[in-house]
Amino acid sequence: MQDADYKQQVADAFHRSAASYDRLGVDFFTPMGQRLVELARPAPGERVLDVGCGRGACVFPAAARVGPRGLVTGIDIAPGMIAEAAAEAAERGLGNVDLKVMDAESPEFPPGSFDVVTGSYSLIFLPDAVGALERYTALLTAGGRIAFTSPEFRAGTFPFLPPEFTPLIPRELLGHLPAQWQPAELVERFNSWLERAEDLVNTLEGCGYRDVVVTDETVRMTAPSAATWVKWSHTQGMALLWRHLPEEAAAGLRSRLIEGLEQLADDSGRVVIDVPVRFVTAAVRR
Ligand SMILES: C[S@@+](CC[C@H](N)C(=O)[O-])C[C@H]1O[C@@H](n2cnc3c(N)ncnc32)[C@H](O)[C@@H]1O
Repeated sequence: MQDADYKQQVADAFHRSAASYDRLGVDFFTPMGQRLVELARPAPGERVLDVGCGRGACVFPAAARVGPRGLVTGIDIAPGMIAEAAAEAAERGLGNVDLKVMDAESPEFPPGSFDVVTGSYSLIFLPDAVGALERYTALLTAGGRIAFTSPEFRAGTFPFLPPEFTPLIPRELLGHLPAQWQPAELVERFNSWLERAEDLVNTLEGCGYRDVVVTDETVRMTAPSAATWVKWSHTQGMALLWRHLPEEAAAGLRSRLIEGLEQLADDSGRVVIDVPVRFVTAAVRR
């Protein structure tokens, strides 16, 4: 699959899920975005670019920090995400948020436009994330900062899921995915530089950053029920797996996941999972 086809499929999947993305009662992206912004520390008056902004998990906490003199620009390749985020910005009456449909691989802004670039669970979708990181240095002011999250890739685990779920998704099921979409292939093709902290530091330094800090933390994911978790999984990266599964295989996966998740649930049916997340911060070396 060509990178352009891959990107189009990613854009279509997130466009289709935008209306329910992060709005099904499953807390994960919002707390992760808040934590990332906390680590990025945008100050009053600063200009922030959030790449792959989705419905604004980073945009809104960043807008609160930069205040009325600052500006947060959110870009996303999925028009539906931008429409939803823009509707929320309007509803909140925010004048310091600007949202645009744009490819995060080569954002078109004049040099030095931003003090901070953030990206939560979005760089992992870029076929040329390393090239993008290099291009972001030009968009940043001298000493500007970058902060992003990714899954903690661990051998044998499904990249977009906490490790507890790995045994519920047998490898043969992943055989329904086109070869280039197999998780191991995706990690190898796009994300191998994120796998080991040393590689990540070297890559970022090679792109023109300094003071790289890699922090592995857990983000507490909560879902009101196992069935809601499965519904939610159709609205994030895993949607790409669901849409390639034949009906019978999808039904089997659904019941296995629900059964497995119910074992983790408390008396009220609520599922709580501490998902390992990698937080990375750095500053431009100039
Ligand atoms: C898992 S979501 C994360 C969204 C948001 N940052 C959050 O934390 O909720 C990944 C987002 O990246 C966007 N994305 C994927 N590839 C992109 C690209 N090439 N350019 C811009 N956005 C992209 C998707 O459309 C989606 O909204």
